[in-house]
Amino acid sequence: MTGNRPTAPGPSRLAARRLTLAYEDRTVVEELDLDVPDGKVTVIVGPNACGKSTLLRALGRLLKPRRGAVLLDGTELARLPTKRIAQVIGLLPQTPVPPEGITVGDLIARGRQPHQKWWQQWSETDETSVSEAMQRTGTADLAERPVDELSGGQRQRVWIAMALAQDTDLLLLDEPTTYLDIAHQVEVLDLVRQLNRERGRTVVAVLHDLNQAARYADHLIAMCAGRIVAQGAPGDIVTAELVQEVFGLASVVVPDPVTGGPMVVPGPLRSPDGTSAGDDVPGGAGGGATVPAARDAAW
Ligand SMILES: Nc1ncnc2c1ncn2[C@@H]1O[C@H](COP(=O)(O)OP(=O)(O)OP(=O)(O)O)[C@@H](O)[C@H]1O
Ligand SMILES: [Mg+2]
Repeated sequence: MTGNRPTAPGPSRLAARRLTLAYEDRTVVEELDLDVPDGKVTVIVGPNACGKSTLLRALGRLLKPRRGAVLLDGTELARLPTKRIAQVIGLLPQTPVPPEGITVGDLIARGRQPHQKWWQQWSETDETSVSEAMQRTGTADLAERPVDELSGGQRQRVWIAMALAQDTDLLLLDEPTTYLDIAHQVEVLDLVRQLNRERGRTVVAVLHDLNQAARYADHLIAMCAGRIVAQGAPGDIVTAELVQEVFGLASVVVPDPVTGGPMVVPGPLRSPDGTSAGDDVPGGAGGGATVPAARDAAW
């Protein structure tokens, strides 16, 4: 499944049509078509500066298309009231900036703003959503602390809590695992999957770790230079050829010992005498390859 065409299976509330995104005279994404599959976890991967955040920001209406459109339930985002969009789409940007001096509790509570009515500032539902978001992200103990004083990882969990408190059907997360230690990375990704599986949330996340992407994505999108190079189930599209094409990296793709899905191992390593450590791996030499034989190996 390759190409810059809408190829997602099933229905799609959020879609892009001939979307062109640019900053002044620099075009980053051109004529891109995309259907975000409903009720699935979609993960976008691709090299630095290829346009992942730009695309995500446009999907969340933080960036206005130069041409083409983002559609929510068939209507152009540009035609929908901001509050309506915020009730349906939650976006965690790559580098969010907190209001100066704000406390953790107040920041997370801001996630509820799209749901608040002028005659009722704070409802029981708001209270429940915020405390559940805090509990799920382990941020309740931080509630009174100023956000500026948190560690990078604590702060990242607070932003995730704010996005969860917003309680939207669609959740767009730009590198949600940044700054997190490995245990917290897994915790956040498990949480995302839990929200998807238990509550049917549609998630689009940008991740840099290809193996985490392959593990958590139902639908994987590989981007390069503003284009979608491949998309589909990770097991169908992750190959050494794709990793070479997208990242210019030689690798070997073996079965993930835990899930049996694709796992990308960079290499082959070059020893000082010029021979490759991957020379004895079937298909491991010569600039990277998939190792189909290893799929049956005892991992
Ligand atoms: N506000 C901006 N003004 C001008 N150019 C920008 C702006 N934001 C991003 N760009 C440029 O757009 C291109 C794509 O950037 P983008 O942030 O979408 O990349 P990315 O794929 O998310 O990269 P990364 O993996 O490093 O986060 C880059 O060349 C970047 O320099
Ligand atoms: Mg980015």
